[in-house]
Amino acid sequence: MTDQTARPRRFSASAPLKGRIAIPGDKSISHRSLMLSALAVGTSRVTGLLEGHDVLATAAAMRAMGAGIARRGDGEWVIDGVGVGALLQPREALDMGNSGTSTRLLMGLVASHSITATFVGDASLSGRPMGRVIDPLSQMGADISASPGGRLPLMVRGLAPAIPLAYRLPMASAQVKSAILLAGLNTPGITEVIEPVPTRDHSERMLRGFGADLSVETEPDGTRHIRIRGEAELKPQTIVVPGDPSSAAFFIVAALIVPGSDITIANVGLNPTRAGLIEVLQQMGGDIELVDAREVGGEPVADLRVRHSALKGIEIDPAVVPSMVDEFPILFIAAALAEGRTVTTGLDELRVKESDRLAVMATGLQAIGARVEESEDGLIIDGTGGDPVPGGATIAGHLDHRICMSFAVAGLVSKAPVEIDDMAPVATSFPNFEALLEGLRA
Ligand code: S3P
Repeated sequence: MTDQTARPRRFSASAPLKGRIAIPGDKSISHRSLMLSALAVGTSRVTGLLEGHDVLATAAAMRAMGAGIARRGDGEWVIDGVGVGALLQPREALDMGNSGTSTRLLMGLVASHSITATFVGDASLSGRPMGRVIDPLSQMGADISASPGGRLPLMVRGLAPAIPLAYRLPMASAQVKSAILLAGLNTPGITEVIEPVPTRDHSERMLRGFGADLSVETEPDGTRHIRIRGEAELKPQTIVVPGDPSSAAFFIVAALIVPGSDITIANVGLNPTRAGLIEVLQQMGGDIELVDAREVGGEPVADLRVRHSALKGIEIDPAVVPSMVDEFPILFIAAALAEGRTVTTGLDELRVKESDRLAVMATGLQAIGARVEESEDGLIIDGTGGDPVPGGATIAGHLDHRICMSFAVAGLVSKAPVEIDDMAPVATSFPNFEALLEGLRA
């Protein structure tokens, strides 16, 4: 799925960013809308679907397992589902490209169907740990043979009927939670996920929306018990996908750090399990105004007006990490421009994303002349107090879209241009990132 040709790009000091943009649909919600539509009996319609490579990998896989999936227009898709329990044996290996979400969630679906699927991916995905889903799915009866270290390529031989499971998540991961819940869809009885630290809840919301019998019980200490009853029958839906807060993040930070900026980002999803960055940036002194707060497709949404601000470094509470887990790379860029020290901890999960985001961000920040120290589970950054960073370096993006976009934004506040060795990976989650940026600079 990934573009094979490297696209090096230079980003240099920017005039104020001005104007209004709409960002593409939420990646997490887009994946789930295709998967659940493909499992419903009948025709579902999705608008605002993110058409990035990751989501297209999910679409191709669901097609290979029997669903009818057609694009009708910009972000408009129609899906004919096969019904829970009726996924077909794919004829070829499922190519997951760069997408961990596709891989882990689809492994869950295959695990409780009587089909066998092989999962392959690019170099980044093939280095990521799958043991976290192999363990619970094997307990449900799936037979999984993986490459050394529990990596891709791997093969899942599903079992139907599968064995229901009650599973306590050993790490805060919405992908692991979702893999088990999706396996539970075609498993007789109750499958339960116990989640000590809340993570994004799009799967729970959407499973309920499609008519699954799913309940959530929260203990006084915040531990969530999510129970799904299989074998479920899903009813087709019409889904409107809100804009992705994780994509908005790059423009929020860009407007905060480029002097004189004043932009509006329309239709940003603000699910509380995703909105940690906005809260943290506001604590740092960021001028982010929520305009016209409303609900879209069962998710809270608002337009964001963001103005250049003098940011102050802070110590970030590790409790907010799951609600902004994908936003740390760009938060580190904001911290590099803030006044004083920003301290982050509890970020071990960043080491197993599309790249080791702690190591790659620390190396890149040093290369552009920012002051950074890497610890086992976080970065400590001493900011410039708003002055530009030196820049003048080439950054290795390591096939990680969020690393590429973060350093592109850093280039806007650098004395000498910042070159990204390859911007092609950005198409996994945000195909029009550069076009939107150009529009705001014009
Ligand atoms: C996602 C969950 C997160 C996140 C990823 C998308 C999802 O991963 O980093 O980009 O859609 O469930 P983890 O579950 O590994 O934290």
